[in-house]
Amino acid sequence: MSFTDHILRWYHAHGRDLPWRGSRDPYHIWLSEIILQQTRIAQGRDYWLRFVERWPTVHDLARASEDEVLRLWQGLGYYTRARNLHQAARQVDAMGGFPDTLRGLRALKGVGDYTAAAIASMAFGIDAAVVDGNVYRVLARHFGIDTPIDTTRGKRLFTELAHSLLPQGQAAAFNQGMMDFGAIQCTPRSPRCDECPLADTCDALHTHRIDVLPVRRKAIRITERRLQYVYIRCRGYTAIRRRPAGDIWQGLYEPLLVEDAPMPQLPGQMTLLRQGVKHVLTHRVLLADFWLLEADERPSLPPGYQWVAEADLDRYAVPRLVEKLLGCLPESSELSQKSEILLT
Ligand code: ADE
Repeated sequence: MSFTDHILRWYHAHGRDLPWRGSRDPYHIWLSEIILQQTRIAQGRDYWLRFVERWPTVHDLARASEDEVLRLWQGLGYYTRARNLHQAARQVDAMGGFPDTLRGLRALKGVGDYTAAAIASMAFGIDAAVVDGNVYRVLARHFGIDTPIDTTRGKRLFTELAHSLLPQGQAAAFNQGMMDFGAIQCTPRSPRCDECPLADTCDALHTHRIDVLPVRRKAIRITERRLQYVYIRCRGYTAIRRRPAGDIWQGLYEPLLVEDAPMPQLPGQMTLLRQGVKHVLTHRVLLADFWLLEADERPSLPPGYQWVAEADLDRYAVPRLVEKLLGCLPESSELSQKSEILLT
């Protein structure tokens, strides 16, 4: 049996049961692919269900505000995806529907070669091969290829190989089979080689290179950033700002941030709630201190901050790190007083 037949057969027996798998609706498929770009299936699945419930069509999503989209995206990270999602929905809405060619799909915001091939094959039955991290790994191991995957030459080689293996008219099953096979069977660490249907012909297994393939040219560089967050509590109000463009977490909200500068003198009672909280992003490690400032008078703040009622904070999308900070705040006496008044 050929490599391709093994993948198809494996997929039909072991492929994952996902809520969008039965659908050929490009909106459903596009949404799932954007969510799954940097998110595990188990978590992505719940978000996908919430998105389609809230916005059943791409036109509904196009009419939402960016804040609403970010709010529902909260917790998934990599928020550029959410902003692109929203912009692409508006592009599709303006066109009257999804484009049904690779080139047309590729022109949508946030849709690269991988996502265009996924939508084209799954929604429109086009013979296009997807090449994601799982596909690189399965191909590099099975065919014993040590060309680095993060080079132009490597990308071209693996893309051509994936295309050459594609069964005509069955690209959707083959692509999803490759991705599931990489995620479940041929995993990055501790792959299940003893029960692999492709073990007989796997080059890496026979040459003992499972743990060195696929090869990357560059190690990913990690930088460290130190952040100090000051949550201000002033008569039931707190100060937040929307993060600007050009940095992590664009469009999300955060309390007063002090970065690369000494803590300014702030009037009121400062309490250090947590020190050195570590938060790992793809190319960065953040180390954060959380402060609480309890003040009777509003301190003057740098430009960009706005005062909001603490009770309304849950209307704003915040990064996960800020969620952690909010989770260590002591109960506000103002808030409990207010709810007591409301209750009586
Ligand atoms: N990862 C991203 N998209 C996927 C899909 N359609 N099937 C399996 N894994 C995926």
